[in-house]
Amino acid sequence: MTTGVLAFMTTVIDGKASAAKLREGLAVTVADLKRDHNLVPGLAVVLVGEDPASQVYVRNKGRQTVEVGMQSFEHKLPADVDEDELLALVEKLNGDDSVHGILVQLPLPKHINESKVINSVSHDKDVDGFHLVNVARLNTDGGGVVPCTPLGCLMMLKSTLGDLSGLNAVIVGRSNIVGKPMAALLLQANCTVTIAHSRTRDLEALCKTADILVAAVGRPKMVLGSWIKPGATVIDVGINRIEEEGKTRLVGDVDYASAEAVAGAITPVPGGVGPMTIACLLHNTVQQAKRQHGID
Ligand code: GUN
Repeated sequence: MTTGVLAFMTTVIDGKASAAKLREGLAVTVADLKRDHNLVPGLAVVLVGEDPASQVYVRNKGRQTVEVGMQSFEHKLPADVDEDELLALVEKLNGDDSVHGILVQLPLPKHINESKVINSVSHDKDVDGFHLVNVARLNTDGGGVVPCTPLGCLMMLKSTLGDLSGLNAVIVGRSNIVGKPMAALLLQANCTVTIAHSRTRDLEALCKTADILVAAVGRPKMVLGSWIKPGATVIDVGINRIEEEGKTRLVGDVDYASAEAVAGAITPVPGGVGPMTIACLLHNTVQQAKRQHGID
């Protein structure tokens, strides 16, 4: 969809449509794997506790896994589960041949060592790209599994802009889940990359230098239109629930109304990065299943 704005057109990057297209391709691959190799990729998702947002994500992941023809295994554990019990479950899934991908939903309760759990997942079954082996590979040879949210962002950037070489990319947020892997991917794509964070000086001036601006801070509507270079491509990773005019609404980290008037292209919330993240999780699961079976 495009809307006419002053001298140029703003492209609204349709993550929902891109994700549907990616899932369509995956459904064909999954059918081929079954027919040619008798292989049905399986994804196990582990949810600890009852965080409502995590429950919604896990439900959506399970539904979409089945929709593309794969097997979905859901494991729900109480919020006060022992770390040892969680590690034992991961160990069991590591050894289960029908499971090709394992995702432990984050965040985990405070009494559990998140990094220990992440690295207990076999790196061959890691579909988040959070295992140290996959982090190292992303930052060296570019192989391994790539974290889902940044991968989805990169796909949308490439389909919007084509070659990203030489572009200035500013990423606001330095999380292990989004900011850091996003920087590695954009560097691989030959962008000049800056990661901004809470201690960055004059964030507004820095954002204005960006041809590509990725907002991943978890603060509703923080990035304003006046911070954006005219014509820049804006990727909004934020999914924030806010109360507005008596209703609960989902908004991004970018103030969409003011940003849309300045950006050359922008992802909406909802309907931008979110659907692509789940589609990329399915992509990673298929990739791991193929790799485990030596299939190209
Ligand atoms: N919680 C929020 N995003 C993610 C993600 O990409 N993977 C996992 N495992 N947990 C998350």
